[in-house]
Amino acid sequence: MDLHLSRSPLSSLDTPLLVVPVPKGGSLSDAVRELDAACLGGAIQRAVDEGDLRGGEEESILFYNASGGGARRVVALGTGTASELTGEGVRRYAGRAVRQAEKLRQTSLTLRLDPSGAVGTEAGVQAGAEGLALAAWDFRELKSPSPEGNGPAPLVTSATLHVDGGPGEVDAAVARGRAVAAGQNLARNLQSRPGNVATPTHLGEEAAAIAREWGLQVTVLGPERLREERMHALMAVSRGSDEEPRLIVLEHRGGRDGDRPLVLVGKGLTFDAGGISIKPAGGMEAMKFDMSGGAAVIGAMRTIAELRIPMNVIGIVPASENLLGASAMKPGDVIQTRAGKTVEVINTDAEGRLILADALDYARQFNPAAVVDCATLTGACVIALGSQAAAVLGTDEALLQELRDAGDRAGERCWPLPMFKEYRKQLESPVADLQNVGGRPAGTVTAAWFLREFAGDAPWAHLDIAGTAYGDTPLSYQRKGGFGFPVRLLVEWVRGRAG
Ligand code: BES
Ligand code: MN
Ligand code: ZN
Repeated sequence: MDLHLSRSPLSSLDTPLLVVPVPKGGSLSDAVRELDAACLGGAIQRAVDEGDLRGGEEESILFYNASGGGARRVVALGTGTASELTGEGVRRYAGRAVRQAEKLRQTSLTLRLDPSGAVGTEAGVQAGAEGLALAAWDFRELKSPSPEGNGPAPLVTSATLHVDGGPGEVDAAVARGRAVAAGQNLARNLQSRPGNVATPTHLGEEAAAIAREWGLQVTVLGPERLREERMHALMAVSRGSDEEPRLIVLEHRGGRDGDRPLVLVGKGLTFDAGGISIKPAGGMEAMKFDMSGGAAVIGAMRTIAELRIPMNVIGIVPASENLLGASAMKPGDVIQTRAGKTVEVINTDAEGRLILADALDYARQFNPAAVVDCATLTGACVIALGSQAAAVLGTDEALLQELRDAGDRAGERCWPLPMFKEYRKQLESPVADLQNVGGRPAGTVTAAWFLREFAGDAPWAHLDIAGTAYGDTPLSYQRKGGFGFPVRLLVEWVRGRAG
């Protein structure tokens, strides 16, 4: 989507659709009042006075401009109390504006941001840009084109943000929002592709193409190199499938030589049937989303490269299928890991922690300043937190707080679960160094404890995104399916580290 900025008078804009905010319990802004008087004969104010438009977040009214100049249509959207508008509120407002354009089958719009609450800030403008570009995305590459006029609404291809305030900062905020949304939309494309398209090989090829485009270093390890690297846990998971595994490594060298890098690790399980411990059939198609963590890491690396963040950042994605071919690992098998620890596989469906174990161990060679992994790791996390927050667990209180703050700023929340050492006992195995499941109680915590065994000494945190990575109750700027979570959180965290 093309994103532009405008500061011309609202009443003079040549646009098929202008969307303006109406706050709750307050008055129209000067800019909107002037537009209303010049183009609409005061109709917005009338709607407010009549009580038809009270500024609630579900409200919208469409007006047609008969004045002969300016926008052809004006939609007034309720935005809630102006002073309470958050960055996430702006993102949702922008998303609703795009949905209005789609309803009217318009492919371009202008969105007015009044400077109150978060909108007065650069973060608010960035959120507005993100909301527009995220909302305008859809996954249509596997649908045949439908006959003219019969299909879904054409996608919005161009949007203009109308803001007050000097250039420079505002332009930079729009550019940042555009780059963040592009990374998140890339993640959503990868997520949306089904298992037969988005194979581990495909993820490797896409990562390599992104690297070429944005100047990242890339290394993709296939079966031979994985064997040399002794990544037996990743290979064990992949043994049930005809698709080859990959370990994808993307490197952004934006910091000084020798500065310890931040490492992002994402679970790239391109289809999780559960293996021999097979999952029930109902809803299994959603397990194409089991590579969401990997998709988010690739998307975040793209954005980090585009923004030229002055930090060294490395993204690592272990990619595999989890099927049940004749050579598949079996319950009771004991497997080796790259780290040397042996693992008794009690349940082959607890495969994410196996491929992450080898990836986390691989990360140690980079002498990281901090390691953050994200993974659709446990159904237990969906039970604990639903879709409102990811779970965050780790070894370093300061890092956990940084991630919570970054998530709050980015509108992608995470919330802590404890890692009391007593939980570790649930992973004790009679035959191996540890087993891959800890029973039903505290399933998200024991999964994190498993990862911790491989995470090394650097500050490490784990985001369980099983409940937040995808879903069928989208926010205004999302669609059913993959959400690209937590691209915004990861980019915001790295940005925060850059100072
Ligand atoms: N990919 C799943 C976790 C998952 C479940 C993600 C639901 C999204 C929605 C993971 O590989 C898995 O199967 N975990 C098991 C672990 C169990 C066997 C200890 C689970 O959570 O049931
Ligand atoms: Mn599984
Ligand atoms: Zn899985």
